[in-house]
Amino acid sequence: MPVINLETIQGIVKRDGSLFVPEPITEAIGACIKSNHADLLLEIERLKRIYASYVQRDEPMVVDYQGQVTIDAYSANYLPRNTLIPKILFLSIVEHPAFRDIPREVRILDLGSGTGGIVLGFLDLFQKEPLCRTNVKLVCCDASKPSLAHQMRLLQKLKFANYEVWHATVDLKSNRSALLRFAPYDFIVIANLLTELSPEHIDNLLLSLPDILAKKGLLLIAEAPRLYTTKLTVHASQLLRNGGLNQFYSCPPGHQCSSERCYVWLQTSFECPNVKVGTRLIRVTNTLKTTWVLFCRSKYSIYDFLCEKYPNLKWGCAAPFGQEFDIEEKMDYQVCTPDKVINITHSRAKALVRDKKSVILRGSIIGFTKDYSKASILWHPLY
Ligand SMILES: C[S@@+](CC[C@H](N)C(=O)[O-])C[C@H]1O[C@@H](n2cnc3c(N)ncnc32)[C@H](O)[C@@H]1O
Repeated sequence: MPVINLETIQGIVKRDGSLFVPEPITEAIGACIKSNHADLLLEIERLKRIYASYVQRDEPMVVDYQGQVTIDAYSANYLPRNTLIPKILFLSIVEHPAFRDIPREVRILDLGSGTGGIVLGFLDLFQKEPLCRTNVKLVCCDASKPSLAHQMRLLQKLKFANYEVWHATVDLKSNRSALLRFAPYDFIVIANLLTELSPEHIDNLLLSLPDILAKKGLLLIAEAPRLYTTKLTVHASQLLRNGGLNQFYSCPPGHQCSSERCYVWLQTSFECPNVKVGTRLIRVTNTLKTTWVLFCRSKYSIYDFLCEKYPNLKWGCAAPFGQEFDIEEKMDYQVCTPDKVINITHSRAKALVRDKKSVILRGSIIGFTKDYSKASILWHPLY
C-alpha cells in the first residue's frame, strides 16, 4: 500500500514554506456571495465585535447563522482559514503508524459543518496526489439549513460533486441519529462548534462519539481559544479519556498540569488571496488560532513516537502562561511533563533556540534530559 510521510503532506499543504489557501477556494467563496459589498463589510465588523465580546466570557456564544448576510460574512472572512484545519490535522498525525498508509476509503463526520471550511479542506487534500485515489464519504451536520445550502453551492462551484457528501440539518443538542449514516468514521471533526453549546449538550455529544469512531479513527476538536473553550478543552479531554479514547496530542494521560484551563493552542499565519466579490476585494483573516486536541482509539500518542526516536529524553508540551493575548515572543512557558511542571522564562526560552525550527511555540513538544537540566525542542504540529 502506498505510504504518506511528512514531506508528502508538506508538499500539498505548504507553498514556499507557508500554509496556504489555494486560489480556487477563495474564487469559489467570492462567487457564492450574494450580499452587496457594503452590507458584507458591515456584517464582517459586526461578527468581529460579537466574537471579541465573548473572549473573556465563560459561557456559550450566541450567534445566529440563519441570515444570508451573516453566512456571506462568515464565509468571506473566516471560512478560508478553516479550510486549513484538515491540512494541519494531516501534518500532525503523519507520525502516527495508523495514518502512514494511504487508505482506499475514508469516512468523515463533520459536526457543526456550517458553510463547510472542514469539508472544503478535506476534499481539496483528497484531490491531490497521492491521496486522490481514495474514496471519500462525508457526513456534514448543522442546525442551519441556509449554511448547509451555501456549503452545497461551494461544493458545486469547486466541482467536488463527485464525492459522497451527505448533508443533515439537525440540532445536535437533541438529534444525533444522523451521526450513524456512514459510521464508523476514520475522522470526526468538531471545529468551532463547542463554543456555541452548553456544558450539558457538550457532554452528551462527546459521549456519543467513541462508539462511532473507527478502530484506527481519529477525533479532532479545534476551537478558537477563549475563556470558555480553554476551560472546556480540559473537561473534554477528561471526558473522552474516561470514554476509552487516548489523547494523541497535546498532552497524554498522567502529565502534570497546574491549570484548570488549557493554554495549549496553536497560532499560525498563512497565505491567502483576497476574496473577490463582483469587482471588489475583501481582505481575509489570515491567522488561525485554535486549541488542538486529537484523540484516537489506539494507545499511541505523539510522545510514543518521540520516545521511540529519542529514548533518553523526557517529554512535555509547552504553553505560554499568563495573559493569552500578550506578545507571544515575550512570554514565559510552562511545560507539563509526566513528573513535573517546568517553568521556562522568556530569557531561557530564547537561550534554548538553536535554529529556526527550535523556537519554542505554543504546543511545542520539548524533550528534556533525564534530570531536566537541558532541553531540546524537537516537534511541533506546524513544522
Ligand atoms: C462558527 S460555525 C463553524 C462552522 C465550521 N465548523 C467551521 O469551522 O468553519 C458554527 C456552526 O455550528 C452550528 N451549530 C451551532 N449550534 C448547533 C447545534 N446545536 N446543532 C448543530 N449545529 C449547530 C452553527 O449553525 C454554525 O454553522
